[in-house]
Amino acid sequence: MRAYIVPKGSTGIEHLQPVERPDPGPPGPGQVTVRVRAASLNYRDQAVIAGRYVGGSLTRDTVPLSDGAGEVIAIGAGVARVRVGDRVAGTFMQVDPAGPAGATPTTLGSPLDGMLAEQIVLYESGVVPLPEGYGFEEAATLPCAAVTAWNALMVAGRAVRPGDSVLVLGTGGVSMFALQFARAAGARVIATSSSDSKLARLAPLGVRDGDVINYRRTPDWEQEVLRATGGRGVDVVVETGGTGTLNRSFSSLATGGKVGLIGVLTSGDSNPYLLMRKHASLHGIFVGDRTMFEQMIAAINVNRIRPLIDRVFPFEEAAAAYRYQLAGSFIGKLVIRI
Ligand SMILES: NC(=O)c1ccc[n+]([C@@H]2O[C@H](COP(=O)([O-])OP(=O)(O)OC[C@H]3O[C@@H](n4cnc5c(N)ncnc54)[C@H](OP(=O)(O)O)[C@@H]3O)[C@@H](O)[C@H]2O)c1
Repeated sequence: MRAYIVPKGSTGIEHLQPVERPDPGPPGPGQVTVRVRAASLNYRDQAVIAGRYVGGSLTRDTVPLSDGAGEVIAIGAGVARVRVGDRVAGTFMQVDPAGPAGATPTTLGSPLDGMLAEQIVLYESGVVPLPEGYGFEEAATLPCAAVTAWNALMVAGRAVRPGDSVLVLGTGGVSMFALQFARAAGARVIATSSSDSKLARLAPLGVRDGDVINYRRTPDWEQEVLRATGGRGVDVVVETGGTGTLNRSFSSLATGGKVGLIGVLTSGDSNPYLLMRKHASLHGIFVGDRTMFEQMIAAINVNRIRPLIDRVFPFEEAAAAYRYQLAGSFIGKLVIRI
């Protein structure tokens, strides 16, 4: 099969290598083989290829990308949930059902081989059926970015309610899903970006004119958030920025609000005491499990949410997709067709 690998010790996109590999062979008990048709990029994939992901640079050649979708072409002994021909997306975390109870799930695209290959073997518990009417390219955007956004909004702490206000930082994959889920839940969304032209693209998604903030031009953007909410603040911050934006996120909160801590894009000192007088809470988010994925798909089906895909690249141009993401001129998701 055709695949890409990020070699051991990789420090950048120039190391991404197309390879021919043997097909993975028959799936073991409880496993399924998926013919992958599309994969999508997350910020994490830049960290992996640059050797900056948790744990440092790769210690073995690894097929990259955690997120993908395709059709099941073989099932192993005992598989009951999935049939040959099913159209599925993988879950970010793969949990060995025969492994010890409570074991930490491992993740695709590092340390496990990921989706940038024509075939992958996954646990049957590690795939979900596609949302109604979704093609593989759309479905490939969901496993990491969308589930993370869903978890931060709907699972961590109290779920978003109609009339709430939600702040999303930047216009990347997680933030754009958060925007769409929050709007579907009846919430108001305030969005920041480095770019006015990106902010202008949010109006059709239901973000009001006065609810967009250019964080480059307005570095004290939390003051704008407070102004836009009449001094009250927002109920939820989807914190994709990291410790460098966290204090401003805390300051943006309303009494009783919550921050979903997701991102690692910036670094700085943060002060959790800013939460205290507001009875506010901070939730660590690490993507989410299959149950969250399935709940999210149910909501996608009811609300007919489609992912915001900036661009789809052919398999042969995977390195160009990585470079395009690194350049930062996209909004939403980038997909590679396989
Ligand atoms: N904890 C988890 O489970 C989890 C899951 C998924 C992602 N993440 C993390 O969440 C972050 C976003 O991931 P992603 O895949 O959505 O990224 P992405 O699609 O690559 O988007 C990144 C976007 O972040 C925005 N950005 C950059 N610097 C910023 C800053 N200082 N303040 C506000 N926004 C900024 C930019 O938007 P503009 O160009 O509009 O400014 C950029 O396009 C990353 O740090 C990633 O590692 C964590």
